[in-house]
Amino acid sequence: MVERSFVNCPFNQYSFMFHSKIAGIGKYVPKNVVTNHDLQKYMDTNDEWIQERTGIQQRRFADRVGETTTTMGVEAAKIAIERAGTTAAEIDFIVFATLSPDYYFPGCGVLVQRALKMKEIGALDVRNQCSGFLYALSVADQFIKTGMYRNILVIGSEKHSFGLDMSTRGRNISVIFGDGAGAVVLQPTIEEEQGILSTHLHSDGNHAEILAMYNPGTHGNHWTEKKLADFNEAEISDMFMSHSMIEKGQNFPYMDGPAVFKTAVVKFPEVVMEALNQHGLKPSDIDLLVPHQANLRISQFIQQHLGLGKEKIYNNIQKYGNTTAASIPIALCEAWEENRIKKGDLVCLAAFGSGFTWASALIRW
Ligand code: UT7
Repeated sequence: MVERSFVNCPFNQYSFMFHSKIAGIGKYVPKNVVTNHDLQKYMDTNDEWIQERTGIQQRRFADRVGETTTTMGVEAAKIAIERAGTTAAEIDFIVFATLSPDYYFPGCGVLVQRALKMKEIGALDVRNQCSGFLYALSVADQFIKTGMYRNILVIGSEKHSFGLDMSTRGRNISVIFGDGAGAVVLQPTIEEEQGILSTHLHSDGNHAEILAMYNPGTHGNHWTEKKLADFNEAEISDMFMSHSMIEKGQNFPYMDGPAVFKTAVVKFPEVVMEALNQHGLKPSDIDLLVPHQANLRISQFIQQHLGLGKEKIYNNIQKYGNTTAASIPIALCEAWEENRIKKGDLVCLAAFGSGFTWASALIRW
């Protein structure tokens, strides 16, 4: 194990680069199982449509009271910390990815710091939706590589169920999403060929409004190309949040599903290949691909496009739905718990979603 003395040293005092490794991983999903049939109580949908278009059979919804994005993240974090052989008191930094934070501000990172009674460490929130966990992982990786920190807690957690339009109006989105959390602890390793080999982050904001939750927000409807004169006084004063927005369901997420799908199936394989190419590797070198669980059809397309056998891709969207920033750490944790990942395996993580943002990470376990 490396010496503690380099902690908080802005420059690595050693002549070599550290890699970061996932030293511990944990997940938490709420107890409450919501089947496709259960959703029929609220909206015009059916099990056949949902399974055929998405592969989802059920998802978990958090308790309305007492269970939040932060509390779920904390539960996943406790497991990751214990499995990393460390304690909350030893964590040097928190990176928390979510699109469904407990509060508009402050972020969930500080709430984790409080809940786990940690030292007065830095706590950073990442807002990159489905790619959020990989963005968070990449940030943490850089801090480990420079020698700045040695124990970083990275969390992806979502409580979607609080912010979904559960009427027929919102069915194209609401049937997809579920709640849950995953967490990892990153630590430095000096073992060559172990740990995070590289991360790859991308964005294209031209499609920001295709998959988004606009309100409450400070956008002032600028993207509608309306001028100030086009709005009446009440509309101007209520632009952050209003009764009319709520009546029209404009406080819920919007998604042009087919447009997102079309870009996802291009960007997923592209960013996996980018990671492999950087290391002179081929798809057949991957032992396990863990994609963001957006849609089983998207995962199957990626698998076929890359020529991977079914055993080389991990999917659990059937059980949990799409848990956005939590989906990769939940899937990675479950794969690890099922012994689908062993030491030395090449694991590839990939994500695509709102922003658009997309990302990948290549890990030698
Ligand atoms: O993780 C973030 C990134 N997100 C994604 O990657 C999602 C990508 N997109 C998708 O996964 C798919 O577009 C969806 C699963 C969201 C939708 O599947 P689709 O095959 O693209 O359906 P669609 O939106 O084109 O809708 C087809 C039909 C429509 O009816 P009409 O106009 O053909 O009569 C919808 O009204 O299906 C209807 N529909 C539903 N019917 C029953 C939409 N949602 C539902 C529903 N139940 N829940």
